[in-house]
Amino acid sequence: MGRAPGTLLSVVGARPNFMKLAPVARAAARRPGLRHVIVHTGQHYDAEMSDAFFAELGIPRPDHNLEVGSGSHAAQTALIMQRFEPVVLADKPDAVLVYGDVNSTVAAALVAAKLGIKVAHVEAGLRSRDWTMPEEINRVVTDRLADWLLTPSRDANDNLRAEGVPGERVHLVGNIMIDTLVASLPRARENGAARRVGVDGRRFAFVTLHRPNNVDAPATLREILDTLGELAARLPVVFPVHPRTRARIADMGWTAPPGAALKLLDPIPYLDTLGLVEQSALVVTDSGGLQEETTFLGVPCLTVRPSTERPITCTEGTNRLVKAERGAILAAATAALEARRGAARPIERWDGHTADRILEVLLDGASYRVP
Ligand code: UD1
Repeated sequence: MGRAPGTLLSVVGARPNFMKLAPVARAAARRPGLRHVIVHTGQHYDAEMSDAFFAELGIPRPDHNLEVGSGSHAAQTALIMQRFEPVVLADKPDAVLVYGDVNSTVAAALVAAKLGIKVAHVEAGLRSRDWTMPEEINRVVTDRLADWLLTPSRDANDNLRAEGVPGERVHLVGNIMIDTLVASLPRARENGAARRVGVDGRRFAFVTLHRPNNVDAPATLREILDTLGELAARLPVVFPVHPRTRARIADMGWTAPPGAALKLLDPIPYLDTLGLVEQSALVVTDSGGLQEETTFLGVPCLTVRPSTERPITCTEGTNRLVKAERGAILAAATAALEARRGAARPIERWDGHTADRILEVLLDGASYRVP
């Protein structure tokens, strides 16, 4: 697609973006003459949600921080757009890379597209078909704006084909999160998170929850928390709590049942998360990334959601969708804990080399089209 870009500009904003940027930044640094500008929108700003990830993953300090902070979707998206536009005009990138499905992703893609700058979407083509999820709106709009649609799996290619996206724009580059996982696993194993949390050598469950559908309605959140309390009577449950969830729990005045081994922690860094996930007997989550990481590691995963944009984790991997209801969660947890654990099945191009493929597509005109 035209001449090779001399300046790539990556935009990130929220926690899951940082793991996706890290391998791209490393691969870009290996390309002589390439300028890679990093823009942090400031969507996530707490040190434990942002700085900790840059430090651990060796991501260069962002060239720009737009410091937009929290707000309604409209306010946050608009502020990112307003503050990102002058950066693009000043830096004149040849292409803008956006990652995943957060508000920062769609806001940056809109700005770049309207300025006539080419957009590359890393993690294109995923669809939950649940239009009540803000991320689904972000995914569809970003893909519509993107010139390069860089997909993690064949189902994403199928979705884009069904939406009429021209095939030459779509490249199956693989899963960028797995690049970071593969590069980080040795360090995660040495990090000693399980010892520090007090579950070393024990069977335990690892939990994360932050989706508005699960945590914003008090009745739903209470039912999930009470269920986790029951699960914690059977095995320790390690639950690092996202700020959104922490605020909702505080609003409800909920406390863990006395004596239950339910450990509510502050958000934890990436290496601790990876180390705990690898060692856990079961993951209960509503995260997108954890569905993929557990599939790669072969750890059973219950996703508390009615749908997933990552169906391959259910068809090929260890993931199972469960309703946000006590009976459903406990039955699925029992089944997962009692099942014999098999080896993880490898998924095509989830191999630690996705960032290299992305740069080959953008800089060398390589094609990772699939029939
Ligand atoms: C965002 C993404 C979601 C992603 C998640 C990962 C969108 C629409 N949502 O959801 O897809 O899975 O990040 O974490 O982009 N807050 C803090 N400190 C922070 C950041 C947020 O306290 O550093 C609190 C604020 O009260 C804020 C709330 O968390 O209002 C929600 O933050 P926001 O970025 O709006 O959405 P997330 O729920 O984090």
